[in-house]
Amino acid sequence: MSSAELSVFIRAIGVHTPERKLTNAELSTMVDTSDEWIKTRSGIAERRIAAPGENPSDMGAKAAAKTLERAGLTPADVDLLIVATMTSDVPFPSTACLLQAKLGLRRDIPCFDVSAACSGFVYALQVAKDMMRSGAYRRTLVVGTEKLSSVVDWSDRTTCVLFGDGAGAVLLETTPEKNVGLLGNLLGADGNNAELLHCAGGGSAAPATADSLRDGKHFLRMNGKEVFRHAVRVMAESCERVLAKCDVKSEQVAWFIPHQANSRILEAVASQLNVGMDRFPSNLERYGNTSAASIPLALEEAWKDGKIKHGDLVLIVAFGAGLTWGATLLRWHEPPH
Ligand code: ACO
Repeated sequence: MSSAELSVFIRAIGVHTPERKLTNAELSTMVDTSDEWIKTRSGIAERRIAAPGENPSDMGAKAAAKTLERAGLTPADVDLLIVATMTSDVPFPSTACLLQAKLGLRRDIPCFDVSAACSGFVYALQVAKDMMRSGAYRRTLVVGTEKLSSVVDWSDRTTCVLFGDGAGAVLLETTPEKNVGLLGNLLGADGNNAELLHCAGGGSAAPATADSLRDGKHFLRMNGKEVFRHAVRVMAESCERVLAKCDVKSEQVAWFIPHQANSRILEAVASQLNVGMDRFPSNLERYGNTSAASIPLALEEAWKDGKIKHGDLVLIVAFGAGLTWGATLLRWHEPPH
């Protein structure tokens, strides 16, 4: 069997979320907002906030450990680690290397980060799949982990109500079985619209200075209305294009797992695809937007709730800063062990 014929599937999934819940009621004491405004405009009721010292590598390592435990595997079984994050622990080294050390993964494996903001998990899945199909890596951990609370301006009501912290991981494995696992995908980007959602300071273009800190340059800034408009169009188009590429009709898809950005974005995408919200599971209410962690968090919940079953077609789709976007169609596969 040549390696080009290998399929790549999700063998196990696990998550970790911080204990601390920040409710809309509590946020209303911090900025001029209300539970009603936040729920109506975004669908979010509360979000998790990492404790001081609880970093993306820590949350990611916990999600990955849970994933390995569910797969009945150990850190020694992992051949490749890819971490998707826009809130890396430090500018360098990568969060993947920090996570590798915390989890006790082998030293003869590649560990690196993918930077594609909220689309990071979908990007990382595709990078992993292409590396694995070469036959060089049998088992890969893909981890989405974020501490957005560290880049949010807690005095800016237009952004601080939307984001939260958390981590999710999947263990990908190769199999000679056909038509299972990650079937098809597409990725895209538009750097001309980078300023719609960005962090201006703290990088090499504008290193942190007393002035940049005073001006809040190291915080996330967003043009919410424009991001909303792009998100709906690009997520719906990405779904349609990946379905056409795989010759699958939307009626055949059991579950759509979109990046959990805003319930109104999800409703608009579902409506454009002519798909009922009953096939768009969401946990936005409890976690808010956790960027690269949001898809594994939603996927794990749908699997744990018994929604996603062996053989189901699942379409995941994301959109984020960059701008970036991506969609992956997969057939859920639970091989007998
Ligand atoms: N509480 C109360 N009022 C608020 C709040 C708040 N938290 N935030 C804004 N407002 C006010 C505004 O100041 C404005 O007041 P004004 O009319 O007096 O000027 C009014 O509410 C309406 O504001 P809009 O910005 O028009 O509100 P909108 O309906 O567009 O909703 C929102 C704002 C929720 C941010 C929406 O635009 C959105 O969800 N955008 C997409 C955001 C997103 O998903 N980003 C993540 C992308 S993924 C990634 O890469 C991280």
